[in-house]
Parts: sequence; C-alpha cells; structure tokens
Amino acid sequence: MTDAIARFLSDDHHHCDQLLAACEAALGGRRSATESANALIEAMERHFRREEELLFPELEEANPMATGPTGVMRIEHQQMRQLFADLSDAVAAGDPEAGLGVLETLHILIQQHNAKEEGILYPLADAALPGDRMTERLRAV
Ligand SMILES: [Fe+2]
Ligand SMILES: [Fe+2]
Repeated sequence: MTDAIARFLSDDHHHCDQLLAACEAALGGRRSATESANALIEAMERHFRREEELLFPELEEANPMATGPTGVMRIEHQQMRQLFADLSDAVAAGDPEAGLGVLETLHILIQQHNAKEEGILYPLADAALPGDRMTERLRAV
C-alpha cells in the first residue's frame, strides 16, 4: 500500500488553497478579481470532478463502509458550489467586501472538508485502490 492517492489529492488541495489566497489578495488590494476568482472556481470544480466522478464511486465499490463519508463530502461540495456562485456574483457586481466575506466562509468550509478527506477518506482510498493507476486516472480528469 502506498499513499499515492492521498499525496496527489492533498497537493491538489494545496493548489486550490493558493488560488484562494491569490483571489483574496486581489480583492483586498481592490484589484480586478475576475481572473483569480475564475481560476479558483475552475480548479475547485476540477478537483470535485476527480472525487465525485472517479475516486468516490470506485472507493464506494471497493469499500461499502466509505459510502457514509463520501455522501457527506458530496453534500459539502454542493455547499461550496453555492459559495462559488456567490463569489462570482460579488466579483461581477464589483463588491470586494462581499467577495472577501464569501472567501472567508469558503476558506473555513474547505479547511474542515479537506481535513476529513486527508484524515479519513484518502487513507481509505489508498488502502482499497491501486494507488499509481488511480493517480494516473485522477490526473487525466
Ligand atoms: Fe472533496
Ligand atoms: Fe478533496
């Protein structure tokens, strides 16, 4: 057993964290945040697709005990998608205060969500699935 899946997806989390910080910096500096908000949302949606379309279904199949936790993760993704829409609205409206408020809430949700994935789900995935093969497929999404 390796930790290839946990490492790949945790790196993806860090990448998204950096994009969130860049968006925060743009809004805080009263610069246009359109590009940085779009980059953040795009990277987060790609990460969600990697989990929802590939990792979670394969993990549920290999270990039915994972179905509870993956269900919770899917619900939290939906909550974050609502915040992506709020962020886009704030940026389109040229309202940096509203955008920063959304990012603060999003940041807290992401931290709690990622801690559960990195602490519980990804180790389950590495225990149940072929790590190198799965990592290759995740990268291709
Ligand atoms: Fe997730
Ligand atoms: Fe994740």
